[in-house]
Amino acid sequence: MYCSVLRSLHLKGNNVIQLTRASFSQNSQSWDTTSKLSGCTAYHCTPSPASGSLWQPLTNRTHQPSASSRCMSSTVRRRRLPSAFPIIDGEFHPAHRHVYEANLRNSLICQQKYLEHKEKVMKGGGENAIARHTQKNRKVLVRDRLRMLLDDEDYLELSPFAGLGLPYGDIPSAGCLSGIGKINGLWCMFVANDATVKGGTAYPISVKKQLRAQFVAKQNRLPSVYLVDSGGAFLPLQSDIFPDKNHGGRTFYNEAVMSAMKIPQVAIVCGSCTAGGAYTPTMSEEAVIVHRIGTLYLGGPPLVKAATGEDVSPEDLGGARLHSEVSGCMDHFAAAENEAYENTRNIISTLNYELPEEDSTSVEEPLYNVDDLMGLAPRCYNHSMDVRLIVSRLIDGSRFQEFKARYGTPLLTGFAKIEGHLVGIVANNGELTYEASLKGSHFVQLCDQRDIPLIFLQNTAPEPAHTFSRTKAESNTNRLKAQGSMMSAVACASVPKITVVIGGCHGADSYAMCGRAFDPNFLFLWPNARVSILAPGHSDALVQTEEAEEEITQINEMLKEESSAFFSTGRLWDDGVILPQDTRRVLSKCLKIVKQQEYQLSREKTRTPFLRL
Ligand code: COA
Repeated sequence: MYCSVLRSLHLKGNNVIQLTRASFSQNSQSWDTTSKLSGCTAYHCTPSPASGSLWQPLTNRTHQPSASSRCMSSTVRRRRLPSAFPIIDGEFHPAHRHVYEANLRNSLICQQKYLEHKEKVMKGGGENAIARHTQKNRKVLVRDRLRMLLDDEDYLELSPFAGLGLPYGDIPSAGCLSGIGKINGLWCMFVANDATVKGGTAYPISVKKQLRAQFVAKQNRLPSVYLVDSGGAFLPLQSDIFPDKNHGGRTFYNEAVMSAMKIPQVAIVCGSCTAGGAYTPTMSEEAVIVHRIGTLYLGGPPLVKAATGEDVSPEDLGGARLHSEVSGCMDHFAAAENEAYENTRNIISTLNYELPEEDSTSVEEPLYNVDDLMGLAPRCYNHSMDVRLIVSRLIDGSRFQEFKARYGTPLLTGFAKIEGHLVGIVANNGELTYEASLKGSHFVQLCDQRDIPLIFLQNTAPEPAHTFSRTKAESNTNRLKAQGSMMSAVACASVPKITVVIGGCHGADSYAMCGRAFDPNFLFLWPNARVSILAPGHSDALVQTEEAEEEITQINEMLKEESSAFFSTGRLWDDGVILPQDTRRVLSKCLKIVKQQEYQLSREKTRTPFLRL
C-alpha cells in the first residue's frame, strides 16, 4: 500500500518534470558511435561490429540540430504514415493437421520443461537459504526488491534459466537476476544478486550474465542499476572468474566505459559487498547503502581478525554509517531497504531524460489465434509448415506487406507492425538458397536504409551441400557468395535487430539469420528450438565410412542433447527461452525498449568516465 502510494506520486511527478536534452556535439569519443542526437523521428546508427549498433536520428546524418529543432522535439506530436497492408493468409491446410498435432505434442512437453525450470529458479537457493536471508540477515528477497524498485512487474527478465544444468551444478538464475524494467517510466537495466544462492557469490556463469546485461545496456543505451548483495568471487572456481579479459574485472571496466558514454550507472548496496564486489558500487556514478544491511569492504571481519587479531563488527568495518559519514564511498544513507529503492527512483528522475510519447492509437490484434503457435512450432524439419502461418499470428491485424513474394521463396520478407511498431520481418521458410540469400540481403539493406528495426524468425533447416559434380560445385559456390552477402548486410545493418529462433539454428544459415554471433539486440529461443552447428541426425553428412556408424550415432546423440533450447539457455547463448504464445508481447516490449534511445541525452559531451574522488 505504502509503495503503491509512493509509486503514484512518482508517476505524477513524471508528468510535471519536463526532461530535456542537455547538449549536442558532433564528435564521438566511444567505440561504437560517431553520431549526434536530435529529437527527430527516424533513426540511424553507425555500424559497430565490436559493440553492436546504436540508433541515431536520420536527420543528424547531415546537419547539426539547431536549438529550435531541439525544442520542437518536445512539442511536435509525431505521426506515422497510414498503412493498410494486405492480410496474410494464416489458414493452415487440413492436410497438415498431423504435422500440427505432432508439433503440439512436442510443444506441450517443451512447455512442461519450461514450467519446471521456472519453478526451480523461483525457489532461488532453496528454503534454508531463504530463511537465512530473510530471518537471520533480515533482508528482502531479490524479486521483492525489484517490486519495490520498478514501476510494475511488467519487466523483461533476461536469461532466467542461465546457470541450470552446468557441469558445476544448478545455479538458479546464475545467482543474479538481470533484466529491463521501468523506473519512473524510464527503461533501465537491472542486475540484482540473489544472496540465497551461495551468498550471492559470482560463478563463471554469473559473470557472463552480468557482462551480457552490460552489453545489452550499452547497445540499447539503458541506464543501469545494480542491486549488490554478494560475497564476491565463488572461490573454488576463481580461475574461471578472475584472470581473463571477459572475467569479473570486465564488469568494472564496463561501468567506467558506459559512464563515459553517458550511460548512467547507479548502485544499491543491500547486502554484503566484499572484495571484488566492492568495486561495483564504487565504480557507479551514484550509490545508496542500506543501514545494518549493506556492508562494503575489501576484506571482511574474519580477515581482519586473522591479520591483526582485532575483533571488528561488519558495521564498524564497512557499514552504512562509515561509508556515508566517514569514507564518502556512498552517497545516500537509507535507514531501510524500501527507503533505498525510493531513493534510487529519485536518482533516476535526476538523469534528465526525455520519455517517449505515449502512443494512444489502438492496436489491431492478429486475426489468427496466437495459441495456434504451439502447433506451428516445428518439431522437426521433415514437414515444415509455411512460416506465414507463424507470422500471421504475431503481427497487427495479420497485415503484411510482402517483399519479393515470388522470388527466393525459402525466405519470407516483408513489412508489418507489432503493437504499432513498424518492423521488417525476415523469416525462414526453409534453407537459404542462392535466391533467398540475395533477397535477404536486399531486404535487410532496405530496412537499414529506412531505419526500420528487423525481426528475424529463424528456422534454418540445413541440407548438406554435397559436391558431386561441377554444376553442383558452381551452384554451391554461388550460394556461398550470396549467403556471404546476406551476412555482410545483416552484420552492418545499423537498425535494431531482434532474433527469435522458432525452430532450428544450425550452420551458416544461422549467421545470415542474425544468430548470436551477429549481435542482435536481443535473441530468444522457443522451447522447441535447437541450436548446433549440425542438426541432430545430420552427422552422417560428415562421417561417411561404414565403420563409423557407431561414431555417427554418438555424435547424433551428443547433438541432440547439446542442441536443446534448455542446454543453450543454461549456458547463456541467448537472452532466454520464451513461449511461442508470449512472443508478440516480448517483441513489443523489446521494440519499446530500443525506441527509448531516441529520447536520450547527448552521449558525446563527456570524454572521461565519471571519477569518484
Ligand atoms: N566462495 C565460495 N562460497 C562462499 C563464498 C565464497 N566467496 N562466500 C560464501 N560462500 C558460501 C558459504 O560457504 C555458504 O555455503 P553453504 O550454504 O553451502 O554452507 C553460502 O555461501 C552462504 O554463506 P553463509 O556465510 O552461510 O551466509 P551469510 O548470509 O551468513 O553470509 C557472506 C554471506 C557472503 C556475507 C559470507 O559468507 C562471507 O563473508 N563470505 C566470504 C566473502 C569473501 O571473503 N569473499 C572474498 C571473495 S574474493
